Amino acid sequence: MAVRSLIRWACAAFIAGTAVGGLAAIGAQLPQPPDLAALKAAYRRPAAIPFPADDPFSDAKRELGDTLFHDKGLSVDGSTACATCHIQAQGFSDGRERGKGVSGQRLGRHTPSLWNLAWTHLLFWDGRAQNLEQQVFGPLESPDEMAQPKDSLIARLAADPQYQAAFAKAFPDNPKVSADNLAKAIATYERTLVSPPTRFDRWVEGDDNALSAQEVDGFKLFTGKAGCANCHTGYAFTDGNFYDVGLPDADRGRGAVLHLDAADHAFKTPGLRELKRSAPYMHDGSLATLDDVLAHYEHGITERKTVAPDLVRPLSLTAQDRAALLAFLGTLSSEQDPQPLTQIVTETVRPETVAVPVTTISQHEKQFSPTHVSIKQGSHLWILNNDTRTHNVRVFDPKLDFDSGAQEPGETVEIAFPATGSFLVFCGIHPRMELYVDVSK
Ligand code: HEC
Ligand code: HEC
Repeated sequence: MAVRSLIRWACAAFIAGTAVGGLAAIGAQLPQPPDLAALKAAYRRPAAIPFPADDPFSDAKRELGDTLFHDKGLSVDGSTACATCHIQAQGFSDGRERGKGVSGQRLGRHTPSLWNLAWTHLLFWDGRAQNLEQQVFGPLESPDEMAQPKDSLIARLAADPQYQAAFAKAFPDNPKVSADNLAKAIATYERTLVSPPTRFDRWVEGDDNALSAQEVDGFKLFTGKAGCANCHTGYAFTDGNFYDVGLPDADRGRGAVLHLDAADHAFKTPGLRELKRSAPYMHDGSLATLDDVLAHYEHGITERKTVAPDLVRPLSLTAQDRAALLAFLGTLSSEQDPQPLTQIVTETVRPETVAVPVTTISQHEKQFSPTHVSIKQGSHLWILNNDTRTHNVRVFDPKLDFDSGAQEPGETVEIAFPATGSFLVFCGIHPRMELYVDVSK
C-alpha cells in the first residue's frame, strides 16, 4: 500500500499535533528517516472520538449504556448480559472459539473484541449492521444469544423506576424508555471503549527508548515485507474493509450479505489492540495463538479465487522475523488491565472536503480519486476500476439505489444521478472507499 494513502487516512481521522499523555512535545527531538516518521504518523492515537450527529456523547448516556451492557436482566432468562460474552478482561471477547448464549448452542462465529469500534463503519464479522446503534438488537433478539423480544424488554425496563430515571437523565429532550434510546445509550458506551496508549504509542510519539530494537524490526516487517499493513492500518490496526484471508471453513461472510460471490469468505479486518487478552483468533476462533496466526499467513491459506490480492504470497519469514513480529504485536497490549476511556473528547464524523467538478473517477489502491465531486442533475459518473482488486460500487439512498455487482479490474461502472442532493458512493467490499457526490440543478 502506498504510504501516501496511509497518511491521507491518518489526516482525516487524527488531529495532528495533539498529545498522548503530553508526550507529543518529545516528538520533535530526533530526526527520523522520513519513511519511518510517516509510518508512525499513520498509527497515531486519535485525539478525539467521532460521534454521529444524531447520537452525540453525554456522560449520562454513557453511564446508562454501561449499566445496560452489564445487566443480565436484558436476556430472556436473566442469565446473559452483553458483558457475559464481551468480557473486558478478555479484550471484550470470551476466550472461546465460538460464543455461547442462553440456548447453550454454539454460535456461528467467534466473539469479536469491542475495542476501538468508534472508527468502524460496518459491524459484525460480515458487516451486516450499518452502525453500532443498529447492531444492538442483533444479540438481544437472537434466540441463541439473549432471546429477548424488543417489546417485552422495553416494557420491563419502562416499569423499573431506576431505569426510568436513568433514561430521563440520558435523553432530556425525549425522556422515554424506548428501543431507540436503549440502542443509543449502549452505542455511546461502546464508542468510549478506546484502548489505552501502550509502549508502542509512546514510541510513535517520539520516545525512542519505549521499544526494543527487535520490536522496531517487527514494526518494519509489519509495515514492509510482511504486508500486514495492507489491511491492518491506523490506530486500531484495521482498515474496516473485508478480505478473504483463506480460512478453510465454508462461511460465506461478506459474500452472503452482499449476495456477491466475489466477496465470499471475506470478513472484516479485526483491530489488533489488546490481542494478548482476546485469544483465540479469527472469525471462527480456529487459531489459538499469534504463532498460529503467523503460520496461517505463511502456509495455511486455502487456495481459492476470492483470496485477497493484498496478502503477501508466498510469505516466508525467518525464525528471527517471526520473533520480531510477535514481539511487535506484544507492544499493542497494555501491561495492566485496560480500562475504557473516561476523559472524552468528541469530534463530528465527516471531515470537510472540497468538491471538484469532474465526471470520471478512478479507484486505484482502494481509494476513489477524487473523493468529492460536484455534478449536474441528469449527468453521469464513470468510475474506472484501475485497481488490482474486485470492487462493488453502491449507493444506498431513498432517491437512488445502485449496486454494480462485481466490478473487476479494468471495468468501468456508470451511474446516472436523477435527483439533486448529496449522495455517498462506497464499495461494499472495501467500505472505507467513500466518494461524495453533490448533485445540483
Ligand atoms: C452469546 C454471546 C454474545 C452476547 C450475549 C452478545 N454478543 Fe456481541 N457478539 C457475539 C458474537 C459471536 C459476535 C460476532 C457475530 C458475527 O459477526 O456474526 C458479536 C458481535 C458484536 C459486535 C460487532 C463487533 C465488530 O467488530 O463488528 C458488537 C458491537 C457487539 N457484539 C456488541 C454486543 C452488545 C451491545 C451486546 C448486548 C446487547 C452483545 N454484543 C451481546 C457474541 C455475543
Ligand atoms: C488482506 C488483508 C490482510 C492482511 C495483508 C493481513 N491481515 Fe490479518 N486479518 C485480516 C482479516 C480479514 C482477518 C480476519 C479473517 C477471518 O477471520 O477470516 C485478519 C485477522 C488477523 C488476526 C486475528 C485477530 C483477531 O482478533 O481474531 C491477527 C492477529 C492478524 N490478522 C495479524 C496479521 C499479521 C501479523 C499480518 C501480516 C503477516 C496480517 N494480519 C496480514 C486481514 C489481513
